[in-house]
Amino acid sequence: MRNIRLPAHVAFIMDGNGRWAKKHFRPRGYGHKMGVQNMIKLCSHAFKLGVKIVTVYALSTENLSRPQEELDGIYDLFRSYFQKQKGKIQELGVRVNVMGDLTPLPEDVRGLLLETMRDTAVNAPNGLLNLCINYGARQEIIQAVNHAVAFGRFVDENSFKSLLYSAGMPDPDLIIRTGGEVRLSNFLLYQAAYTELYFSNKMWPEFSRRDLEKALVNYSQRDRRFGNVKKG
Ligand code: IPE
Ligand code: IPE
Ligand code: MG
Repeated sequence: MRNIRLPAHVAFIMDGNGRWAKKHFRPRGYGHKMGVQNMIKLCSHAFKLGVKIVTVYALSTENLSRPQEELDGIYDLFRSYFQKQKGKIQELGVRVNVMGDLTPLPEDVRGLLLETMRDTAVNAPNGLLNLCINYGARQEIIQAVNHAVAFGRFVDENSFKSLLYSAGMPDPDLIIRTGGEVRLSNFLLYQAAYTELYFSNKMWPEFSRRDLEKALVNYSQRDRRFGNVKKG
């Protein structure tokens, strides 16, 4: 993994927890549990390799219409991984930022998330982990437009970006989606205008460090032209 051009910002669409669980004759909730474990493992590996920003799609706005039992299981996972100060998420030692509309979440979960953001701010020099929870790109864009309207302002690309959840961050260089589907499912639609996309047929809980490295090597071989002509 040395001497390759690494993406500064990698985003994951962590899909396939339910199908992975089904394949192993286990309930969907078990798939989510193994999915969160794998998320910690892979985020840790990405930061160790030198990636500066990792963004993970944990729950979409559309996912909130899943059965309440499944959502409750996911909220319980947040509760156990974000324990005050000493959860697995905090152990990563990076700054944690949450992107999404937290208002429909259970009060205590919302409190834990806000607390984690505050407490990990000091870790900013080590890296940034964005957790997208009840995140939807359309909601994000509409909210930004409404802010601009409320301020009575016209926007340009820079000022519009500052109204998104990702304000102040570079766009993702690479989005990796597991689970075999080839779509963005309402993820970072504005920010991904020039992002490289990588799709894996592995289900999220089985996506390994090796698979991540393979995706990063593949990324390093891409020719990013940003609409320009190839130099040299
Ligand atoms: C992704 O796995 C995690 C969430 C959306 C919360 P899924 O739960 O979508 O798993 P599949 O796609 O049904 O296998
Ligand atoms: C995308 O997965 C959302 C997350 C991984 C959090 P979904 O399972 O919700 O996407 P679709 O429904 O297959 O498009
Ligand atoms: Mg899915």
